[in-house]
Amino acid sequence: MTDTQLCPICKSPRRSNSFGSLTQWIVACNCDQREPDLPDEEEISITICRSCGKRVGEGRAGSFTQFIFRSDVCRCAVPKILRDAIDAAPIIENSETVTDDADEIALRLDHNNFPTERYKPLAELGSGAGGSVYLARDMMLNKKVAVKILHLMDSKLLVAFQDEARATSKLTHPSIVGVIDFGLTKTEKPYMVLDYFQGMSLSDLLLRDGTLDWQLVQEIFEQICDALEYAHKNGVYHRDIKPSNILLRTRENGTVDVQIIDFGIAKIEGSRNNDLDSQNTIAVGAPLYMAPDAAMGIPYDRRSEVYSLGCVMFEALTGAPPFRGETAIQTLSLHAHQKPPRLSEVSANLSFPQIVEELVSKALSKKPDHRFQNMSEMQQAIQEIDPASFQFAAIANRKTQSPYLVLLRNVSIVALVSFAGWNIAKFTILAPPPPVSMVAKEKEKAQHKKAEEFRKNKEDIEVLKTDDILDRLNLTGGKWKRKGGLLEGHEVTDADIKNVKDAGSVKTFKVTVESKVTGEGLKYLEGAPLKHVWIMSHLFDDRGAAELMKFPTIERLSFHYDNKMTPGALAKLVSSLPELTNIHLRFMNLKPGYIKALKNSKKLSSVDLGHSEQVTEEDLNELTKIEKLDSVTLTDTGVGDEAVTILSKTHLRFFDIGESQVSDDGLMMIAEKMPQVKTIKLSVGDGITSLGVKRFKKACPDCNVVVGDGLNPIQLLDYN
Ligand code: ADE
Repeated sequence: MTDTQLCPICKSPRRSNSFGSLTQWIVACNCDQREPDLPDEEEISITICRSCGKRVGEGRAGSFTQFIFRSDVCRCAVPKILRDAIDAAPIIENSETVTDDADEIALRLDHNNFPTERYKPLAELGSGAGGSVYLARDMMLNKKVAVKILHLMDSKLLVAFQDEARATSKLTHPSIVGVIDFGLTKTEKPYMVLDYFQGMSLSDLLLRDGTLDWQLVQEIFEQICDALEYAHKNGVYHRDIKPSNILLRTRENGTVDVQIIDFGIAKIEGSRNNDLDSQNTIAVGAPLYMAPDAAMGIPYDRRSEVYSLGCVMFEALTGAPPFRGETAIQTLSLHAHQKPPRLSEVSANLSFPQIVEELVSKALSKKPDHRFQNMSEMQQAIQEIDPASFQFAAIANRKTQSPYLVLLRNVSIVALVSFAGWNIAKFTILAPPPPVSMVAKEKEKAQHKKAEEFRKNKEDIEVLKTDDILDRLNLTGGKWKRKGGLLEGHEVTDADIKNVKDAGSVKTFKVTVESKVTGEGLKYLEGAPLKHVWIMSHLFDDRGAAELMKFPTIERLSFHYDNKMTPGALAKLVSSLPELTNIHLRFMNLKPGYIKALKNSKKLSSVDLGHSEQVTEEDLNELTKIEKLDSVTLTDTGVGDEAVTILSKTHLRFFDIGESQVSDDGLMMIAEKMPQVKTIKLSVGDGITSLGVKRFKKACPDCNVVVGDGLNPIQLLDYN
């Protein structure tokens, strides 16, 4: 190559010479695309948009995925007309499906905008204003890959994208997503091909389960520390450590596999790129996890990443990051000036051993010198914490542990009476009632003892194989699964519903929690004789509810986890389904108005609110207005005796008050005021004692009493 073909500054091939091969593209010069060096005073500033309060991309446009997904970056400067166009522009020009020999259904994308010569697009993993991430099959290597495509291109984004490609491709580590390929599409849109990691992000896991138990946190964070230590040793900072950039999956042996994605705003130490912020002081990253360093004019270094990881660990243990202001700048200010809360301060229900409090507090020190000095030190501190010191806290936390992962970890000891859980299992563990004055720790101890008793009680118990559990917990991956009239979608999107063949035979339709379904795609199932619809997607919204109204055969609706459907849409939905008898609103924060929405249903007789929060007295009163109400499940909803008082006006025959706060008195009230109850489910623990159960049995000898221990793993499995 002659000197004129090389950039005189970076000595890389000039861009015009570099689009032949993909590798060439990574190493191509982009000096002409870069912003000029910023003057010193600007280098230490974080620019916040005065109009929207969000951070303005400064020099760097952030990572590709960030650009696509993030909502915290100002877009005010983008002309409205362009913004609207970006928001509206569907990149799938024709999502009609085509099948090929490989039996995989390809999305039909425009060949000019996707490198279809090598990658067969299978599904959209996510999309936003700037681009999309697709699951695709690499036809050369014959494996699944993730293809990121940037649609909107300006020089800043191109530079950021190229940097991401460079940074990530330098790293080879089992916990860092591997880069396979880069390039430009025919329309010169840059794309990056990554190893596909079929897992769930830590943010989604936390969204679903609230918090994680220490054993799991330890396992995940040890791997993250290891990966980041490796990256740092290779001169690469991630710069955007946050839960959504951490993907997780369980291995067959029940251990957890971690992948860090999106080294998008990573910078390579010593690269020419550092000219942009020669003090290493431009603030990049998500404000919730951002070290105060840059904001305080301290150079970014590996201890800044220790801080960010400390924030993520804080969130994994408590369900919330340590600081959250009303605006990005407020959050940054809290990072800079406010003492971080103790873990146990932010959640009344959780308690943490001192050693864990100290670990997190050290990572969150304002002064970098007081933090762990590198990821290795942090990793060692994590490793040194004996999970046994967490035992009691873990038990107290059980309601917010991740059922999937906890179960998988306990695979060797998980013993089940039956897969059908509560519905079939009958077993009695009557522990002595704890004295009313028992302090919290003693209560936890008692619960722990009961759990041990349960584990010892192995009569009639079948030990499950890992595969069965994986299967049951939907961790086997894949897209559509079909069995008779059941159609189950894993990680599917609305567009994927179009791929469903023979919709005329689908009676039970289910989308799992990893799916990204608004419900709009249900239109493709038109005419299906649906009886049971089961939605776990967080994105399900009013459009989906409107589509469901077109299936008059629906008898059961199961909504699990929070979604976007409004109470108004739910009201319309239930009143328009003439055959609806059964509704689940489980594992969610019940929106005000949800229960009220149920009263205009003609046949609804069974309402299951199991594990949902915010069941208010008003909700209970609304339940009584459901004319045909016959069965109510309030497992783990936090209700107490008031639920019995209110529901005693109804004619329930089935009443589940497992893991609630209902007391022996409440139980006797059921005996007196609800003699028609045929089956009652309860747990001995918080309020109901074994003596109370005996008294109830005496008063209601014909009532079928099912008693379970709150720590019973069946509870964890009983998702469905
Ligand atoms: N989302 C972004 N990158 C991904 C990857 N490599 N695998 C799975 N999902 C992703």
